[in-house]
Amino acid sequence: MRSSERTPSTTAQPERFSASRHRSSQSASDACTRGSSSLSAPTATAESKQLRRAYSPGVAAWKRCPQPSLDWAALEAVVLSSHDHIPFNRAQVVGREQAYIAEAISRCQLSAGGKFTGLCASWLERELGCAAALLVHSATAALELAALLLDVEPGDEVVMPSFTFVSTANAFVLRGGVPVFVDIRPDTLNMDETLVEDAVTERTKAIVPVHYAGVACELDSICATAARHGLAVVADAAQALGSTYHDRPVAGIADLAALSFHETKNVTSAEGGALLVNRPELCDRAEVLRDKGTNRNRFFRGEVDKYSWVDIGSSYGLSELNAAFLWAQLEAAEELTQDRLRTWRTYHEALAPLEEEGLLRRPIVPDGVEHNGHIYYVLVENLAERTRVLEALNRRGVSAVFHYVPLHSSVGGLRYGRAAGPLPHTEALSDRLIRLPLFSGMSEGQKQQVVETLADTVRRRVPA
Ligand SMILES: Cc1ncc(COP(=O)(O)O)c(C=O)c1O
Repeated sequence: MRSSERTPSTTAQPERFSASRHRSSQSASDACTRGSSSLSAPTATAESKQLRRAYSPGVAAWKRCPQPSLDWAALEAVVLSSHDHIPFNRAQVVGREQAYIAEAISRCQLSAGGKFTGLCASWLERELGCAAALLVHSATAALELAALLLDVEPGDEVVMPSFTFVSTANAFVLRGGVPVFVDIRPDTLNMDETLVEDAVTERTKAIVPVHYAGVACELDSICATAARHGLAVVADAAQALGSTYHDRPVAGIADLAALSFHETKNVTSAEGGALLVNRPELCDRAEVLRDKGTNRNRFFRGEVDKYSWVDIGSSYGLSELNAAFLWAQLEAAEELTQDRLRTWRTYHEALAPLEEEGLLRRPIVPDGVEHNGHIYYVLVENLAERTRVLEALNRRGVSAVFHYVPLHSSVGGLRYGRAAGPLPHTEALSDRLIRLPLFSGMSEGQKQQVVETLADTVRRRVPA
């Protein structure tokens, strides 16, 4: 492996533009295609043996599949190379992905709408209790589909937090909608439900809560405000598969909800997502809008004798190959989530003394909310300290990143949206946040290295 690929970046970036994320997947694919001869053999330390054990179930399943092009030695070297550099994220292969993809190929049905699409959709409907789950190629697509489905028109307002990923807003802006940004709560970093009512105007069409880090927003309050004003609730549940709100799956609460299966999420299809529809009267139209404005799905079900253009729409479906990958992951969703939660709890416990010393603040999860361990973050004192800590962590092989550049002060947010009022918590907390590496399959040694490096850094035991 080239030394430059293993040298941690000293410039931390937001998640989706993270140099570390791109570097780790780039180096993995480089290594797999270049072959083992160009790789230096990793030293078999106790740590590397532990890593080998942690990854062995997935890797063993890969080895059992007929796959002449896979270079096992190269793959293993990539896995073990994380000994001295902990990536921010690494997609976890659970074992059956290759077999299901091979099955999809053998059926010669590769585009959207095959057996695996059906299995995944039924699983989501059953587990989340929604009227319909439509697989799409991303949460971004799911949010765009929601905006189409609600007939968002130019000038319609959509209330949402500023502390979120750009797609939350962009999906509505594409229809001419105006994001109206409200502040977040300092405890959960979720949209402050007490500010929503004042942000509602005659032009408001929808409220869009974002369940940050898989921790549910105060949905009872938000849904009650929406009901009082006759507004739709579109939940950005991109990070929230597996989380609950008062014992109900969080992703199933709201008129519409968007899930993400992007590589960084707990359960992945590489790129992918789902729109969950909880209002039965919207289900048929949602399908049409997803399928290019045609009634193709009704045709496939034998309900009409030909399919044609019946409404507006676009091409949002998920390929059957991605759905096959996703089905393997959904079958293992519980284990993947529990594995993340173990890491989350390890961090939480180990960092408690640092919080007591006043060196950082740990996440707060309110009563009645069970999260899915998607993100572990800490809040340090201010932007200068965040910059210092991120630089030191990355220099010492721990890929940590920040989150988010608030939308209300970004170029796009200033052009297309407006703030409902002052957003002091959004501005202060987004400057202080650091996300730690968290992915399924982390070894105990990696977790310990993250904790120790962070502790040394915030206690200023590392050279500046
Ligand atoms: C809150 C939120 N919304 C939307 C998205 C977009 O997801 P996707 O990459 O599946 O389009 C993300 C992705 O990280 C996200 O975190």
